Amino acid sequence: MIQKETKFVILTGAGISAESGIRTFRDSNGLWENHRIEEVATPEGWKANPQLVWNFYQQRRKQLLEVEPNQGHEALVQLEDYFDNFLLVTQNVDDLHERAGSKNLIHMHGELAKLRCEACHHVEYMMDNKHLGEAFLTCLHCEGRLRPHIVWFNEMPMRMAEIEKALSECEVFVAIGTSGHVYPAANFLHIAKRHGAHTIGINLDPPENVYFFDEFFQGKAGEILPHFVQKWIQE
Ligand code: OAD
Repeated sequence: MIQKETKFVILTGAGISAESGIRTFRDSNGLWENHRIEEVATPEGWKANPQLVWNFYQQRRKQLLEVEPNQGHEALVQLEDYFDNFLLVTQNVDDLHERAGSKNLIHMHGELAKLRCEACHHVEYMMDNKHLGEAFLTCLHCEGRLRPHIVWFNEMPMRMAEIEKALSECEVFVAIGTSGHVYPAANFLHIAKRHGAHTIGINLDPPENVYFFDEFFQGKAGEILPHFVQKWIQE
């Protein structure tokens, strides 16, 4: 039985932003907007060709100015507003959850809207429009070069201790729009389950870990989620 005090952890992936017009990772033969992942999403790629990587993320940032949150993002805001214990963990680097109104949110793979100094690790917000050019930007504190505040492959996802604590305490875990290919996020289902949570998957295609969910619903997040949220709130 779902109650107002029920502890929720929600994990989202690229699928929740698909209906806003942002392409998912694994629907394009391992390419991310026509680039090999190793080229644009690894520390080695940044070292080998920082200009290419910089331009790539600037394009992604420009794309964010053209898209809006969808009904899936909005349904999660309703859920957060109603329930007392709610944590949203996203693998997405877009800002659609916060633009929809989500507050208790962890971007475990970083954020397009932020930059981090390579030298002193200071994190800065980018300014829309003003900071979208091809020139590298420098740190306000030490003038070091700023890199995207994105977790690349072989780097440690952010705020893992907080996430693991919430997973071990949650009663309902819901994974939405994620293929279950990338760890450690793909393992959250198992952590929550091991601690007794009821686990639910919502995805357009069956994800890699589909058989481990207690319940799986196949379809678009923007269509399925609003129904679920109404049902849970009425319960
Ligand atoms: P993927 O591209 O691997 O998977 C997206 C999933 O969303 C697929 O299983 C689709 O079937 C599903 N999907 C597509 N449209 C949907 C919709 N409208 N509603 C519901 N589901 C839909 O993306 P992620 O699992 O998020 O990491 O990928 C995980 C990580 O791999 C990303 O965060 C990124 C990538 O490499 C980094 O950049 C570090």
